[in-house]
Amino acid sequence: MVGRIAVDAEYLKETEKARRSLRELIKRKNCAPILLRLAWHDAGTYDAKTKTGGPDGSIRLEKEYTHSANNGLKIAIDLCDVKAKCPKITYADLYQLAGVVAVEQAEDPIDFVPGRADSTESPEEGRLPDAKQGVTHLKDVFYRMGLSDKDIVALSGGHTLGRAHLERSGFEGSWTEEPMIFDNSYFVELLKGESPGLLKLPTDKALLEDPEFRRYVALYAKDEDAFLTDYALSHKKLSELGFSPP
Ligand code: HEM
Repeated sequence: MVGRIAVDAEYLKETEKARRSLRELIKRKNCAPILLRLAWHDAGTYDAKTKTGGPDGSIRLEKEYTHSANNGLKIAIDLCDVKAKCPKITYADLYQLAGVVAVEQAEDPIDFVPGRADSTESPEEGRLPDAKQGVTHLKDVFYRMGLSDKDIVALSGGHTLGRAHLERSGFEGSWTEEPMIFDNSYFVELLKGESPGLLKLPTDKALLEDPEFRRYVALYAKDEDAFLTDYALSHKKLSELGFSPP
């Protein structure tokens, strides 16, 4: 389980200060994509069976940010200098708040509930998805977290933001023409098939292979509101894996 800390009025005030600082940081550094990836990689280690991993700030620890799936994320950890200004807020809350602020340009803002305690334990390497694999692997990894097919597709829409860097993952390029805008263009591009200059990971293409996945891809490509609503629900679930707010 992700531990819980007491949230009093002072902590809530500090959370709001951190939110304002994160907005300012994202504006100044254009770093929404890497902060979203940081939040997802801290949370995405959750194992529902053993109740270990999850959004507990453990990605700040060297033994975890050096896992190969986390290549490049030390940059995001160092960007979170907000912690110096808001020392009370846990890393666990700060990273999830950063993920929420990173996508708040979307129409359905995600309701952020604070109170995650920091852990000093890191899960073993290998819990995050491997981009070179396919449908079975994606289902194995996300079902282990307790998430559904719909969550897998909606959350993959996070790739509407940002890009891959050869030196970090071995892949290069963005998924959409406007990688700083959070919209449904990831799904529109996915359905179009290969486009010169745009990236599709094997795990992105897997969303077209499974009929249940494909149903959601088609829905989100044609109905942006459906995507934004479902994305907000799935993102909230991801940010609260193993954490039961009071
Ligand atoms: C970037 C894999 C799911 C958000 C990347 C990169 C890879 C990857 C290989 C490139 C990293 C780099 O070279 O910098 C995967 C796989 C997933 C997955 C296999 C399984 C479904 C998600 C989810 C989210 C997400 C669920 C968020 C909800 C991002 C973002 C970037 C990114 C925003 C861009 C980072 C940047 O611009 O620096 N992902 N990802 N990904 N991922 Fe994912």
